[in-house]
Amino acid sequence: MTHSKDPLLQPYTLKHLTLKNRIMSTSHEPAYSEDGMPKDRYRLYHVEKAKGGIALTMTAGSALVSEDSPPAFGNLYAYSDEIVPWLKKIADDCHEYGTAVMIQLTHLGRRTSWNKGDWLPVLSASPIREPAHRAFPKEIEDWDIERIVGDYAAAASRMQAAGLDGIEIEAYGHLLDGFWSPATNRRDDEYGGSLENRTRFSNMVIDAVRKAVGPDFIVGIRMVADEAWDIGLTKEDGIEIARRLAGSGKIDFLNIIRGHIDHDAHLNDVIPIMGMAASPHLDFAGEVRAATKFPVFHAARIADVATARHAIAEGKLDMVGMTRAHIADPHIVRKIEAGLEAQIRPCVGATYCLDRIYEGGGALCIHNAATGREAIVPHVISKTTGRLRKAVVVGAGPAGLEAARVLAERGHAVEILEATGAAGGQILLAARNPRRKELIGIVDWRLSELERLGVPIHYNVFAGAEDVLEREPDLVVIATGGIAQNPELEAGDELVVSSWDIIAGAVKPDGPVLLYDDAGTHSGMTAAELIANAGVELEVVSPERFFAPEIGGMNHVPYARAFAEKNVRVTINTRLKAVRRDGNGLVATLGSDFSDTARTERRVAQVVVEHGTMAMAELYFELKPRSRNLGAVDYKALIRQQNPIEPRNPDGAFDLIRIGDAVHSRNIHAGIYDGLRYGVLF
Ligand SMILES: Cc1cc2nc3c(=O)[nH]c(=O)nc-3n(C[C@H](O)[C@H](O)[C@H](O)COP(=O)(O)O)c2cc1C
Ligand code: SF4
Repeated sequence: MTHSKDPLLQPYTLKHLTLKNRIMSTSHEPAYSEDGMPKDRYRLYHVEKAKGGIALTMTAGSALVSEDSPPAFGNLYAYSDEIVPWLKKIADDCHEYGTAVMIQLTHLGRRTSWNKGDWLPVLSASPIREPAHRAFPKEIEDWDIERIVGDYAAAASRMQAAGLDGIEIEAYGHLLDGFWSPATNRRDDEYGGSLENRTRFSNMVIDAVRKAVGPDFIVGIRMVADEAWDIGLTKEDGIEIARRLAGSGKIDFLNIIRGHIDHDAHLNDVIPIMGMAASPHLDFAGEVRAATKFPVFHAARIADVATARHAIAEGKLDMVGMTRAHIADPHIVRKIEAGLEAQIRPCVGATYCLDRIYEGGGALCIHNAATGREAIVPHVISKTTGRLRKAVVVGAGPAGLEAARVLAERGHAVEILEATGAAGGQILLAARNPRRKELIGIVDWRLSELERLGVPIHYNVFAGAEDVLEREPDLVVIATGGIAQNPELEAGDELVVSSWDIIAGAVKPDGPVLLYDDAGTHSGMTAAELIANAGVELEVVSPERFFAPEIGGMNHVPYARAFAEKNVRVTINTRLKAVRRDGNGLVATLGSDFSDTARTERRVAQVVVEHGTMAMAELYFELKPRSRNLGAVDYKALIRQQNPIEPRNPDGAFDLIRIGDAVHSRNIHAGIYDGLRYGVLF
């Protein structure tokens, strides 16, 4: 398709503003703020998308208008004047690339905690607890309403002063729409009951905002138009609210949400993760557009260009949100324009990004380690200005593939030696869970990039030192990964099987199964999900306070759902001590880290264990004495992105580095970050 015809690349006029194409990033809090301010990390993250050609970047996730709406996940302080110069810098820098910048404003209502920020009371339309944040809110009073209406107006003025192109008022799962929804509004005063009453507060806010910013400034609303909930806001009422807002003359766009977010299980339906349907609410957003004949934006797992194009071409949306897609690849538009769609790094829906912010970290993409680290590592790899090297990468798991890709982009001559007949390492195992099969996109994208870069992969080479040395490399990257290891047991090590055995299909589940997971990651849960879905009786045992703590809330949902539906017993705070044979079966002895005397037993047919991996590093240790740096890396230099290799052995012929799980048991992101951060230094 030529650019002039591509629906995605057509400009869009919103009021006085021309958006240069139809692709946007919807508001999302990456939790990169420092003291509630969007400083350099925040700015560089958005500027990268601007460089990548996006038309509109909606900054912040729910920037806070009031102090009694303390940050739940690193939110920005829109209530502070201090924010203005920081936002201005983001706006100015993005404008240089022709990208419009807006911001989402909110009062979180009950979607936060009282013991954060200034310890002010959490409030809501009615005192109904939000399960996700666990506060029991107070019922909002008249003086709160007055105060908060003023806070919205003041925050909107600040955003205007910062030179932003507009604002978006958040109305799903937060304070404003808490009034709309019968699930959270039980009031019998002028703010409860009829639709007029339930929208009174949001109308007061919109009126005050409009008065503060004047008629020309762009003010939109990200609103739920159907809570898809038997006790919640109905589709009829939601569309009616949208219609009234569109007709009010005070709002410039509707950004449509379907669903409710008071619990992780429901948040998953609003922001679907891998294994769930793609673009599930697109048709609904299209219905709202048809009903209101008003500018409609929308995002929910529209991760690929074809679906985004369809959304615009079919008139379902005016602007299509590809939010996580841009976390995975901020250069989507540039690649479409250049006819390089096939080079777009796919968002595989792992939702590592979102899960990290709820665990108190910054958003990171499972397979783009440059996102959120723009100040440290580049998205676009430039050619080296140093000497060209001959590099051998051993291992074609995520770390090795990434190292090879980056080294090849730098211009080095790279080859990969892989022990098995296929690339992917542990991702091949993880993707055996049909629900998580999209993880293979992480491998496929790298394979296609390596093909483009002309990097050969030699399969079925279980490399020894000679296989490496005969290639006369001057850089060797050991990315040989790890192998499943058992937890330390008092007895019965030989009687257990590993989660890998189950996932790989080498051992069939034989119930009743006791699955003991003290790694807390996806591996144990993947085995558990496969066992449960095979209809085999299962008990999951964990020494932790809740199962699989290394998996965030969004990724927890499908496992918890499978366990609930398949009657899997989950036992926490319990450690596997020993296994013994008893007749045809096994007896597992369980103990507790909280008591020296507590012991119980379970009679089962099979004990499956998950205890992370042990590094497969024989080759590294074989090569170490022959290397120039004796394997040593200067971490101080590495984190400053300077040459981390210190010459230690004058007779050494090559630099040697070890990355990913070949160092110790970690995750896909850690391996890929290793591959990138070392790769760009050569
Ligand atoms: C890290 C992260 C934080 C988010 N925070 C917010 C937020 O604060 N406010 C909001 O309206 N949506 C938030 N979202 C939801 C996104 O705006 C978007 O609706 C969602 O990611 C689905 O779109 P996508 O499939 O294109 O990513 C967040 C998403 C992510 C990944
Ligand atoms: S972590 Fe997963 S969902 Fe998030 S941007 Fe990366 S690939 Fe997409």
